[in-house]
Amino acid sequence: MSDLPVLQPESPQAQAMYEVFMQVVWISAAIFFIVTGLIVIAIIRGRKRTELPKQDFGNHRREIFWMVGPVLVVLWLLAISTKLILTMNAVPKVHPPRDAKADEELTVVAHQWWWEIIYNGSGITSANEIHIPTNKQIRVKLRSADVVHCFWVPQLARKMDVIPGRDNYIWLEAAKPGVYQGLCSEYCGTQHAWMNFKVYAHSPEEYEAWLTDQSAQPSDSASADAAAGKQLFFSYTCVNCHTIRGTEATASIGPDLTNIALRKELGGGVLENSPENLARWLKNPQEFKPGSKMPDFNLTDKQVKQLVAYLDSLK
Ligand code: CUA
Repeated sequence: MSDLPVLQPESPQAQAMYEVFMQVVWISAAIFFIVTGLIVIAIIRGRKRTELPKQDFGNHRREIFWMVGPVLVVLWLLAISTKLILTMNAVPKVHPPRDAKADEELTVVAHQWWWEIIYNGSGITSANEIHIPTNKQIRVKLRSADVVHCFWVPQLARKMDVIPGRDNYIWLEAAKPGVYQGLCSEYCGTQHAWMNFKVYAHSPEEYEAWLTDQSAQPSDSASADAAAGKQLFFSYTCVNCHTIRGTEATASIGPDLTNIALRKELGGGVLENSPENLARWLKNPQEFKPGSKMPDFNLTDKQVKQLVAYLDSLK
């Protein structure tokens, strides 16, 4: 992640936040320059003085000005921040819910150190990628599987802590299609820095197409390597931690791997998703993400090749 566009809002929520931030910056800058300016003038004017200037007591108009002025400034800052907080905390109605039982459209579960993304009512679960349609408020429920994390997409929304045993809500809305960087912004262990995700905002039509692609059951590849890789996946240890929808792999310690070949990144953003990088990851995940729950299984090159062939067929 090279840069984080904190001051380039792309949603009404982020725009409102940006405007309040800039107002605070300008008001603070004005006070700073007025005060330091007066001090500098006093220093220059008084630099040759040898005795105290005439003291000025009991000027009520000035005293009232010095008291009321700052109070008004502080009250103004309080008012604009409170208004902003109230707008941002509003949890929008879900329109229309895909599943009557689901009162939010996305559930995001933070894990050390990756994000599980559950598209409620559609059966789709993914990792480290959030796909949303543009110009629609998406209500997101945030939960933690372990420790305190913090969910942050600077261009789209405020930060929201993710706390074990408590559901927090936030909403995401993107004004135009694009890819928005997200990250964990609360120190949560050694790989906190590699707990990234991306929000992909699509036009409504593209979003529907994406949903259809993801809902489809991944097809079984015909290649011999893929078949051997599949056998390895289910006979070896992979099945103990991962889910592949429609198979007997249903564990949820690691990311859901249904349609993994359609994802753009691996390991919470540590590697781009390509067959070569997937092989490097399987060979030794600890090299890229020391401390992650995915151990080094000392797989042979042949086993890695077969697993990559199988995983790469999941799309
Ligand atoms: Cu999760 Cu920092």
